[in-house]
Amino acid sequence: MRPASAAPAAPGVYPRVEPPHIVHASAAMDAVLTLALRAAATDAKVLITGESGVGKDLVARFIHAHSDRANRPYVAINCAGLAESLLESELFGHSKGSFTDAHRDQAGKLQLADGGTLFLDELGEMSLRMQALLLRFLENGEIQPVGSEQNVIRVDVRVLGATNRNPAELVAAGRFREDLLYRLRVLHIQIPPLRERPEDIGALVEHLAGPGLRGATFTPGAVRALQRYRWPGNIRELQNVVEQCLALSSGQTVDVGDLPDFVRPGTAGVSALPERRRQVADELYDALTSGQCSFWEHVYPLFIGRDLTRHDLRSLVRKGLAATHGHYQAVVRTFGMPDSDYKRFMNFLASHDCTVDFRLYRYGTPQVAREPRFVLPLSQADEPGSKA
Ligand SMILES: Nc1ncnc2c1ncn2[C@@H]1O[C@H](COP(=O)(O)OP(=O)(O)OP(=O)(O)O)[C@@H](O)[C@H]1O
Ligand SMILES: [Mg+2]
Repeated sequence: MRPASAAPAAPGVYPRVEPPHIVHASAAMDAVLTLALRAAATDAKVLITGESGVGKDLVARFIHAHSDRANRPYVAINCAGLAESLLESELFGHSKGSFTDAHRDQAGKLQLADGGTLFLDELGEMSLRMQALLLRFLENGEIQPVGSEQNVIRVDVRVLGATNRNPAELVAAGRFREDLLYRLRVLHIQIPPLRERPEDIGALVEHLAGPGLRGATFTPGAVRALQRYRWPGNIRELQNVVEQCLALSSGQTVDVGDLPDFVRPGTAGVSALPERRRQVADELYDALTSGQCSFWEHVYPLFIGRDLTRHDLRSLVRKGLAATHGHYQAVVRTFGMPDSDYKRFMNFLASHDCTVDFRLYRYGTPQVAREPRFVLPLSQADEPGSKA
């Protein structure tokens, strides 16, 4: 409900923000996006943390695009990029004459975001004075433009924040207010660094290398080498490496020898388990989609006989959902089963707690189902249009 006194600077309906395509194949990112979808169904403030380049901006936009506010403004502000006085005027606006260059009244980002979402990036860099002003806004929803003592405006803004620093350490060092942290961290989404989710690398490389005229394929050996590297710059660094490989490779294939030197010798810190899981899921997927094995005659007995874990099965389902943009009916077909097996397949997954949220793979589609709002774990009833 918008307060009666709201004076939106930018009324009307905005072009709906499409959810960004967040490429992933790991359970860790599934969990992140599941939490992001839950956050999107509420108006709660969310703090997004993670190293530089892990995808915090992307997740913030994902939340907004899946929320009821998707056709209202999404306004982002980088708290590190502006001097304190400018940041205050950017956020709260200013009135004509309030400082030398203030030639006219100017609405702040909070006002521009009325009815929508404000994304405060690099929150950890905000000065203590700005933190006090932000805290006051979060407590009463009121903004007072710089230089305008009388003019108090109420706005309805959902706030998301992000930092690549450890908030608890900032508080301990006296650089971030604890009360503000509690206000902002109603929900906390921690995005793991890329080195902790090597299963994502193959999918990301395919995504980054695929489109355009220079599209090329990375060999399995090259992907394995990339999975052993530590990626201090995370996905942003991977983007650069893929671009570099595409620029320098002569053919349509990028092999280990085509990777930059600093990536090749790396052996640090990747656990064997995700790699094994990825291999099992890859092999089963290839065997199923090529018709070499049957789901019910081969995969099912392996699972029942405990040769295949729940993690393996979920990884296989994730691969199917990624390939079909989140359509379980199509997964059934891709795995070589007749359409009539849909219900049996969904029941099998549900009864073994192996159902994966299909919505995480429905990029480019307009909406997340809104009712019921908290729908996990999912059952077969969740796929729209299914007759299950
Ligand atoms: N899962 C993903 N799928 C596709 N692209 C991704 C993914 N994660 C990150 N990217 C891309 O990597 C780049 C870095 O992501 P983003 O800007 O969201 O990171 P960040 O965590 O906000 O980084 P910083 O802390 O430096 O601001 C962007 O170009 C983004 O589109
Ligand atoms: Mg960012």
